[in-house]
Amino acid sequence: MRPIPTRARAFTAAAAVGVVAASGAVAVATSASAAAGCRVDYSVNQWNTGFTGNVTVTNLGDPISGGWNLKWTWPGSQTVTQAWSATVTQSGQNVTATNPSWAASLPTNGTANFGFNGSWSGSNTAPASFTLNGTVCTGSTGGPSTSPSTSTSPSTSTSPSTSVSPSTSTSPTTKVDNPYAGAKGYVNPEWKAKAESVSGGSRVSNNPTAVWIDRIAAIEGTDGSSSNGSMGVRDHLDAALAQGAGYIQFVVYNLPGRDCAALASNGELGPNDLPRYKAEYIDPIAAIQSDAKYKNLRIINVIEIDSLPNLITNTSGQAGGTAMCDTMKANGGYVQGVGYALNKLGAIGNVYNYVDAAHHGWIGWDSNFGPTADIMLQAAQASGNVKNVHGFITNTANYSALREPFVQPTTTVGGQSVRQSKWVDWNQYTDELTFAQAFRTKLVSVGFDSGIGMLIDTSRNGWGGSARPTAASTSTVVDTYVNESRIDRRIHAGNWCNQSGAGLGERPTAAPATGIDAYVWVKPPGESDGSSTLIENDEGKGFDRMCDPTYTGNARNGNNLSGALANAPISGAWFPAQFSQLMANAYPAL
Ligand code: BGC
Repeated sequence: MRPIPTRARAFTAAAAVGVVAASGAVAVATSASAAAGCRVDYSVNQWNTGFTGNVTVTNLGDPISGGWNLKWTWPGSQTVTQAWSATVTQSGQNVTATNPSWAASLPTNGTANFGFNGSWSGSNTAPASFTLNGTVCTGSTGGPSTSPSTSTSPSTSTSPSTSVSPSTSTSPTTKVDNPYAGAKGYVNPEWKAKAESVSGGSRVSNNPTAVWIDRIAAIEGTDGSSSNGSMGVRDHLDAALAQGAGYIQFVVYNLPGRDCAALASNGELGPNDLPRYKAEYIDPIAAIQSDAKYKNLRIINVIEIDSLPNLITNTSGQAGGTAMCDTMKANGGYVQGVGYALNKLGAIGNVYNYVDAAHHGWIGWDSNFGPTADIMLQAAQASGNVKNVHGFITNTANYSALREPFVQPTTTVGGQSVRQSKWVDWNQYTDELTFAQAFRTKLVSVGFDSGIGMLIDTSRNGWGGSARPTAASTSTVVDTYVNESRIDRRIHAGNWCNQSGAGLGERPTAAPATGIDAYVWVKPPGESDGSSTLIENDEGKGFDRMCDPTYTGNARNGNNLSGALANAPISGAWFPAQFSQLMANAYPAL
């Protein structure tokens, strides 16, 4: 159980737009209404020096078919940094939002909704007026322009988009603090059968593993052509009821432009497919999960692995950054997609959302740590309520050791800090448990609920077997010391694909440490991270050379060998040789 009890988050009512709470976010709704032809509802959700704006324009005049633009002038120093569902440009204080190409028309009484992120300083006062295709929006079809309303009604949430409707399901506040506590986990029969097909597999096959909803077809279930299972979401929920399980774990993993910094887990949706993500993926999942039949099951959703951290560290201009990550940052597809998923799924009383927060070997540096927490908050705010996030998960499908007893950030060797070693490379953290606990504290400090809990994926971070150090090295040379003492035996901490030498980690356990809701097996052990050579497939999966054992690396793994196992199938597909290795190197041993 987490040490800090869940408590209701209370916001002090802000007297006017621009009042900033010391911590957390203040949401302020302002409606600016004016003359013939259009009405604008403008609201912001702001924190420290940043804010998310949400704009809905209603065309009260004649139908518009050839495109629209909405213009306003900032009264202060606000700057738009990123927008979605419209192209937003700014020149000085003047801003123009233009329709997306797929929504050029606006019928009479039709609405368009878009959002943006921005920065501000001093005060964040709403624009005094807006024009739609040059017409001042007065909020009515006739009459003289009235001065836009500046009344503010502080609220704890804003509605992120017109297509997100408030749910009528049980309020999120009825959720238990730790959904893993005292509950039996669902054992996925498809994974269990694969595990038992490998010699010795029955020793671990009764552990709960997550069900990955990795494409639209996985919701209904497939004909067996999927690389990792054919049961649909309902099939799994029904099987969970039949097992008498207390909780079931899903991974929501199908964002537009998925896996923008790598190729092995690219998905079916293109970078501009946010509307499809919402309508064809999240909505149907929410419809199934909210079925009253399942109300006594705790349904845990792990939300979108690697997506938000990729926007912090893997855009172009950064070592190994990609154009696809630039695109997904610019079009808001990840932030809005995650926000939408959180909103829809978080509204269901027995559903628990845990957002993926990468791992220490990715965001453990100060330069990544704070910005990642901030973007998590943006996505949560885009969902309308930070309480849609029950917690976070680290190390999903990664290999970072849970503890590094001999290599702590404070350890010194021959007068040098281990942080100076090539392996640690100035990271503030050396293991996953310390990192997850510290990141939890950071997330609460930026505005998340103080009751959030962390999960750590321990499915493949055991590093047991004969190569596991049992004592600290006696070397006084820092690199030698670290390399001889570390539990994580990877060639480089940036390696992530089918790692040679890895073992099963801690078995799934509820409330194992302060701030940690559970150790979980989210990546089902034995399912591949990616193919070691190019394999054609119909799932959108690419060939990433980080999965090729002969690859000598790139900027993100310090130009080292990939450390990947040979003969691997595509990501998600069963890889028996890997499963055998994971059992052989399990820690604790089987
Ligand atoms: C793949 C998914 C798969 C998951 C679990 C990911 O790397 O892209 O398709 O469901 O791993 O094995």
